Amino acid sequence: MNAKLSHAPAHHELDAFWMPFTANRQFKAHPRLLVRAEGMYYWTAEGREVLDAVAGLWCVNAGHGRREITEAVTKQLGTMEYAPAFQMGHPIAFELANRLAKIAPPGLERIFFTNSGSESVDTALKIAIAYHRARGAGQRIRFIGREKGYHGVGFGGMSVGGMVNNRKVFSSSMLPGVDHLPHTLDIENNAFSRGLPQWGAHLADALERLIALHDASTIAAVIVEPIAGSAGVVLPPIGYLKRLREICDKHDILLIFDEVITGFGRVGQPFASQAFDVTPDLMTTAKGLTNGAVPMGAVFAHRKIYDALMQGPENAIELFHGYTYSGHPVACAAALAALEVYTKEGLLTRAASLAAEWENAVHSLRGLPHVLDVRNYGLLGAAELEPRAGNPGARGFEVFLKCFEQGVMVRQTGDTIAMSPPLIVESKQLARIVETLATAIRETA
Ligand SMILES: Cc1ncc(COP(=O)(O)O)c(C=O)c1O
Repeated sequence: MNAKLSHAPAHHELDAFWMPFTANRQFKAHPRLLVRAEGMYYWTAEGREVLDAVAGLWCVNAGHGRREITEAVTKQLGTMEYAPAFQMGHPIAFELANRLAKIAPPGLERIFFTNSGSESVDTALKIAIAYHRARGAGQRIRFIGREKGYHGVGFGGMSVGGMVNNRKVFSSSMLPGVDHLPHTLDIENNAFSRGLPQWGAHLADALERLIALHDASTIAAVIVEPIAGSAGVVLPPIGYLKRLREICDKHDILLIFDEVITGFGRVGQPFASQAFDVTPDLMTTAKGLTNGAVPMGAVFAHRKIYDALMQGPENAIELFHGYTYSGHPVACAAALAALEVYTKEGLLTRAASLAAEWENAVHSLRGLPHVLDVRNYGLLGAAELEPRAGNPGARGFEVFLKCFEQGVMVRQTGDTIAMSPPLIVESKQLARIVETLATAIRETA
């Protein structure tokens, strides 16, 4: 299907939309407009086919244009487009929560709905504080995040996040009392490691030092991505997450895994916590929950947290938190249909069977000019390029543009090229992604 599908807006018609996380002036001078999608592909406004190597934005796990999701959403819109979830309920939200609880890591069977990853993170942070307070430990208000972490753009998520460009402008507006673990990217020791790096489990011990500095009695929770996606697929060294879990347990600190990217099959299990056999107390999700079709997020809370908060008179609201669209019926319909597709097609575990092939493919980039590191796990992959002197990010951006011109959409973050194809990807498409990236890297000085 190569026909021109939509009229591209004229240049002056691009002015009004202030684009998020985008170089607006560059984009509006050289727009890259996507107008249709199906399976593994997008089509541009010019009718060019583009292989999607990022699942949209790490979210379209079952591929584009899934008829089952469209039909479920259409049906729900025709039945009841909206109903509140404050002091009222609708069956589909309960059905979805039950369905999610069934695939959740052990004990994480209480589900709070949000509309995005950012909202899931801020919700989880608030639940952590409320939990400690309900148990008489209201002084536990600190959070420990990690350098290079990305937890969305709310004031909470931004504060526990560790990507400097997301923080520096807003440095006066961070949550008080937040500290950060060191990140786990170590190219000197771990470059080109296949899967999880061997070196670096001890980096988790930095948590003990932060606890010694602040005292455990002031700390509510530690939040990390099991694999940091937005910073360029930064992997946890073998044993690292287990160590974090042990230290949190020792000091009665909650452990939050942000699985907004790693959830819903990306790493070969429904959630990374299952793949790594480490169960957090709270888990944040979004993106793949609805296959990206309708905005929705979900926080999975351990039953003990929910139970601790079920206090006070029975007619009293237990947690003063929620969104107009928490458990939106249309989003619930999309999520249920997405889960049905994931289950029927084995997509929650398919990444595991493709992981070795993907690993070999991405590691073929080793030895190309400027390639400092290649990282992979499940169906996540990244190639880190050497920054140009005095112009960090320029080489990465050029490689991203070249890939797009050659018909493959990857994700650029600084000088790292990240990939997370839809979980329906076929072998020849995996190969094409990496071959196109290799060509783009070779052609970029
Ligand atoms: C780990 C993680 N947490 C939170 C978010 C924020 O999600 P959203 O953009 O839906 O607010 C993202 C987005 O990429 C993410 O990767």
